[in-house]
Amino acid sequence: MLGTARLRYWAGLVLKVLAVWFAKVLLQKQPIMSTFVDDEIDVIDGVESEDEVDFVEEMRLPEEKKVDDRLSVGSRTYGCKHYRRRCRIRAPCCKEIFDCRHCHNEAKNTNEVDDSKRHDIPRHRVEKVICSLCDHEQDVKQVCENCGVCMGEYFCTKCKFFDDETEKEQYHCDACGICRIGGRDNFFHCDRCGSCYSNALQNGHPCVENAMHQNCPVCVEYLFDSVMDISVLPCGHTMHQICLEEMNMHSQFCCPICSKSTQNMSRVWERLDQEVYLTPMPEEYRQKKVWILCNDCGTTSDVYYHVIGHKCLRCGSYNTRSTCPPSQSRRAEPRPSMGMLPEAIESSVSPNPAQPGRTLAAEMSAE
Ligand SMILES: *[C@@H]1O[C@H](CO)[C@@H](O)[C@H](O)[C@H]1NC(C)=O
Repeated sequence: MLGTARLRYWAGLVLKVLAVWFAKVLLQKQPIMSTFVDDEIDVIDGVESEDEVDFVEEMRLPEEKKVDDRLSVGSRTYGCKHYRRRCRIRAPCCKEIFDCRHCHNEAKNTNEVDDSKRHDIPRHRVEKVICSLCDHEQDVKQVCENCGVCMGEYFCTKCKFFDDETEKEQYHCDACGICRIGGRDNFFHCDRCGSCYSNALQNGHPCVENAMHQNCPVCVEYLFDSVMDISVLPCGHTMHQICLEEMNMHSQFCCPICSKSTQNMSRVWERLDQEVYLTPMPEEYRQKKVWILCNDCGTTSDVYYHVIGHKCLRCGSYNTRSTCPPSQSRRAEPRPSMGMLPEAIESSVSPNPAQPGRTLAAEMSAE
């Protein structure tokens, strides 16, 4: 009798343990099931309803939540004047620590630095980053191996580049070999010009061999990896938008490289036509003729001399320079490009010289 009671007791215990184990297994399964379902919803509907998101959120394991919270700690609160990011870099060249490559280049190229010691950082050779939150130095990676924070929401392994401000729509262009901003879909890489250009320029922009691998003709900064806006002029040459605006403010409307007009000048030429018409030259100059070379279309023609300007007979541009008659053109020594518009224009055409500059900027960026 005693034996049967014992047997019952043990059998009951075993059943209880089995029941608990089953319940545990079932509970553990549940989150896995829900993600799976969630995946299905995603595929079918494309968008999850808010309730479903809440449900998934609740069902997530607490560790998962913690990891996610940790990743976003300090987003946009660290960085320098160039980038918001949560790491600093150790420069492979001088082994010093900087917030970013621009900070390095600024610090290492000032007048205080000895000429022979000035240098730019080899950006692709950066190997070590220092987490801004825990100061742990480590190989380049997106998430800090020590404290688990995401050091840059945008992260490029090739450029060793971090940035928390993803609204800039950073993307890496393999042909350029660097990261650019503005969204991959909005740009195409022009192999001849050697850079990414706005899609708006895709159909028939004037290609200039390596146009972007030049210095800005005004401020002499290298354009290819400049972080400032760049204008592609109608002639295909490139310069900083801000330098172009500066030129316009000083009534310079021709490309510093090839002297072609930097914007549609037809209205200015119309005003000049009137100006010339209203300003007859003194009798003794009326028959005087000069040879001109048009900076815009390259045509040589002989026109009546006028103090205000000389109009190209072919394209009507006043962006011309005096030249030798065609027979002597071999010996012709073109004069250095002068500010193409005589002072007369500034006073008569635009009372506010900054005005045409602004319209130009808008035209250029829209092109
Ligand atoms: C330049 O502007 C005028 C009007 O101001 C317009 O008629 C002409 O088509 C424009 N030329 C070009 C090349 O855009």
